[in-house]
Amino acid sequence: MKQKVLSYMRVDERVLAELEKEFDVTSFQNHEYVGDPRFDQALKEADGIIGLALKVTKELLELAPNVKIVSNVSVGYDNLDLEELTKRQIMATNTPNILDDTTADAMFGLLLATARRIPELDHYVKAGQWTVSLQPEQYGIDVHHKTLGIIGMGNIGTAIAKRAHLGFDMKILYHNRSRRTEAEERFQATYCELDELLERSDYVCLMVPASKATKHLIGKAEFQRMKRTAIFINGSRGQNIDEEALYEALVQGEIRAAGMDVFTEEPTRPDNPLLSLSNVVTLPHIGSSTIECEYQMSKLAADNLRKGLQGQKPPTLINE
Ligand code: DGY
Repeated sequence: MKQKVLSYMRVDERVLAELEKEFDVTSFQNHEYVGDPRFDQALKEADGIIGLALKVTKELLELAPNVKIVSNVSVGYDNLDLEELTKRQIMATNTPNILDDTTADAMFGLLLATARRIPELDHYVKAGQWTVSLQPEQYGIDVHHKTLGIIGMGNIGTAIAKRAHLGFDMKILYHNRSRRTEAEERFQATYCELDELLERSDYVCLMVPASKATKHLIGKAEFQRMKRTAIFINGSRGQNIDEEALYEALVQGEIRAAGMDVFTEEPTRPDNPLLSLSNVVTLPHIGSSTIECEYQMSKLAADNLRKGLQGQKPPTLINE
């Protein structure tokens, strides 16, 4: 008999088709599972779970007595109760490294779009408002030769530093749990304490993983420490910042603008006050979402699942 797999959200269709040859797969491609008895049944029978951002809590695991592996199609795994999974000897895997360049491209795109006000000016042209030449109040600010502060110099942070240093002659400051020699040697990144980074950077880019320790890492005091001309980019997780404090900082002119790929609640609600501000550029959490990268991530996640269910060590196991 085939082993049973529950597939949840955004597993590439080609990868899903391959998995269906080997396993008995029940698939939920959207948030459609809430209250769906098919989901509860699939959970009850699943040997493995693969997908994006399913909240794997103690309560959910109580309903999934056979699960041996949870394979995340993402590098972040703040959706998993790792302690509980480990206690139950359930393997947890993620998809690191393959999304570094794609995510760095997206974050740099967001930074450029915010600095040069690209969405606002795109709207201006398409709305037929470009009837006279642009006024200075509509100008953006330079990116090249400015100072970029990266909080969280992991692999994605390093890929951002590479773009900033080699492509835009930016000066890089970074704050991280440990020193990163690659970034220091190749991209002349300078380590500093958080407060110093906030005070000196023209652009502040937040890339730390979400954990209890990083909840509201950037709040009122941190925004007040930034330059009044600073642009803040959040490419990490929504919970790492205090959104209300960001709104206040933008409205009070404590910082110039913000680019956000992630929100405290996702999807964010249309009445989130940040969405009403023209100096906020938003994305719907698409750091790694390109056709190529989503496929590679699905493939790696499927490989993790396959290995785990075959009793082998998955390539990117988190809880060794
Ligand atoms: C990741 O891989 O963690 C992306 O943010 C998608 O969740």
